[in-house]
Amino acid sequence: MTITASQNAWILETRNTTYALGLDEAGLLVHRYWGERLALHDIPPPPPMRGWASFSNGAHHAPEEYPAYGGMSFNEPCVKATFADGTRTLDLRFVGAAVHGDELRLTLRDAVYALTVTLVYRVYAAEDIVTRHVVLHNAGAAAITMERAFSAVWHLPHGDGYRLSHLAGRWYDEMNYQQETLTAGVKVLESRRLTSSHTHQPWFAVDRGDADETRGAVWFGALAWSGNWKLTAEVTDYQTTRIGIGLNDWDWAWQLAPGETFTTPVALAGYTSDGMGAASRLLHRWARAHVVPRADEPRRVLYNSWEATFFSVNETQQMALATRAAAIGVELFVMDDGWFKGRVDDKAGLGDWTPDSVKFPRGLAPLIAHVEGLGMRFGLWIEPEMVNPNSDLYRAHPDWVLHFPPRPRSTGRHQLILNLARPDVQDHLIGVFDKLLSENRIGFIKWDMNRAPSEPGWPDAPREPREVWTRYVYGVYRVWDTLRARHRDVIWQTCSGGGGRTDYGILARAEQAWISDNTHADARLRIQDGCSRVYPAITMEAWVTDASEDRFPLAFRFHVSMCGALGIGANLLRWGESEMGAAAALIAQYKAVRPIIHLGECYRLDVAAAEGQYGMQYVSGDESESVVFLFRLHGAERIPPLRVRLMGLTPDRLYTLTNTTTGAALGPHTGAYWMRVGVEVALPAIGSAMLRLRVVS
Ligand code: DGJ
Repeated sequence: MTITASQNAWILETRNTTYALGLDEAGLLVHRYWGERLALHDIPPPPPMRGWASFSNGAHHAPEEYPAYGGMSFNEPCVKATFADGTRTLDLRFVGAAVHGDELRLTLRDAVYALTVTLVYRVYAAEDIVTRHVVLHNAGAAAITMERAFSAVWHLPHGDGYRLSHLAGRWYDEMNYQQETLTAGVKVLESRRLTSSHTHQPWFAVDRGDADETRGAVWFGALAWSGNWKLTAEVTDYQTTRIGIGLNDWDWAWQLAPGETFTTPVALAGYTSDGMGAASRLLHRWARAHVVPRADEPRRVLYNSWEATFFSVNETQQMALATRAAAIGVELFVMDDGWFKGRVDDKAGLGDWTPDSVKFPRGLAPLIAHVEGLGMRFGLWIEPEMVNPNSDLYRAHPDWVLHFPPRPRSTGRHQLILNLARPDVQDHLIGVFDKLLSENRIGFIKWDMNRAPSEPGWPDAPREPREVWTRYVYGVYRVWDTLRARHRDVIWQTCSGGGGRTDYGILARAEQAWISDNTHADARLRIQDGCSRVYPAITMEAWVTDASEDRFPLAFRFHVSMCGALGIGANLLRWGESEMGAAAALIAQYKAVRPIIHLGECYRLDVAAAEGQYGMQYVSGDESESVVFLFRLHGAERIPPLRVRLMGLTPDRLYTLTNTTTGAALGPHTGAYWMRVGVEVALPAIGSAMLRLRVVS
């Protein structure tokens, strides 16, 4: 049983954790415990209502599970509303609970107004994860304006001095791992970019400042949402620490009409006492088991034309690239930007999704037939949410873009954003891409989104125009969901100028993600390290390109990209026969270990990243096979071998180790040996190695 309910207390148990909440003496729904699994009789009671002074009363200190703006509490609220008569505070009281299997629903209702707030908890016992979302319902006769509606607040065990780990960056430099001690006040991470953004990831990990990859208590979580979001990491004035997460309330409001409900995105969180690495693996397992589509099918090796040909695509040249790609073992050929009407550069074409008649006078059919004749599937790049002012679509529907009528419409990359909050825009896109997918044998779609919003206006909005931030994202989801349902064979990739829309909202609809436009091997190692903290390798598309070819050998660049879903983005028409041969051999090696990388467990090895060394290890679910990638980015000429202790093996089974790069074989040794003694690998100052381990008994 994962949920125990008794006497106004609810205990959520996963394999290794306990999450407990209940009503306190004042009837408030409060948090009681979250951490390593505890016997039911050891779970602490709700904290007593303690107040010290008129400025510091009991309500302010209560660790409410879903604090509302109102009363004598001054911490970050989860929910804020204005009622039709002008009342701007809430007074939520518990009214009932229901347990159905792994789901707990707790309903609160305002003491005066007919607003109900249902907190929905779901327990994923095997992955030590609990998810939460909230359903708001207006059962009254007047509209209610919601001004904040977070998905959750997560309370940490009493105390301050916690350390927050998060991922921050920018376009071309996403997902840099950050760690900082939380001090009094509120640290905010957020997106105001309409997508989840390159700037911050909707993810957190919190520890007591002592956790490393393998040890220490870590509380972690994420928000499954592809639009504006906000995380508030708050250290209160009395040394308690909590993480609020949900839709961003910046420039946001939602009109809840009589009878309507509003459902927030899902927030998820977990706990482990085994460090940051275990936290990542729990997230990966949860995502593969419950979120990412087709997570049991290793991803195809793909080719993408972008860095090779940019906008100058045409039939002959793409066919030639496809021929070269097939020769080295590519399984999916993707033509990127530039294929549609008028798309000679980034100044025109977005919106007009028919093949350009100059570049593809016979349409896409001959290219697709050529690609399929080579044994590959065909994929295509699209950017449905955008329109160039120089396009037939914009000339026909200038009112369809986000804008404020009196203001100039700022372009970004010469493009405007279609307002996907509008059902007619959604219907138009569904029609256009349904036709494209129906008329052409397309097995893969790369969905891109290449600018941040400027004038986020919705002039003829039938309701509160600030709903646009949320309705837009639900519009994107509706288009994806409809097209996915109509074209079940198609694999989808999320992209927003690289990693601008990588999150668990879109990854419920996308098999894989393009996490950065930066394909330099050294930058990529850092970005991929950040990515691995949240997302499983199977979702992380990674291309070998010609970028950084002057600094990193081909095998190095391949090894970097093999740590995810391998792709090739180089100009194969320039590659000589030796590069083609080497690439073919590396792709064959990758295919042999691909199930371990995509379906297994991932370990970040302790090899001193600060000194430019990275090590990633993947272990099959049954621990019988493993593959290790080691990298050295710089160093002195006469440099000692890299010594690394492996992870995740069965201690008493015997494994052989082969260095695929040099051919050297070691062992057999027990898993315990490889994990405690480790292995020495000679690497040059700039070099990489791939090691394979196989169980012999
Ligand atoms: C941005 C993407 O991240 C690139 O991979 C490429 O598809 C370009 N857009 C095309 O315009």
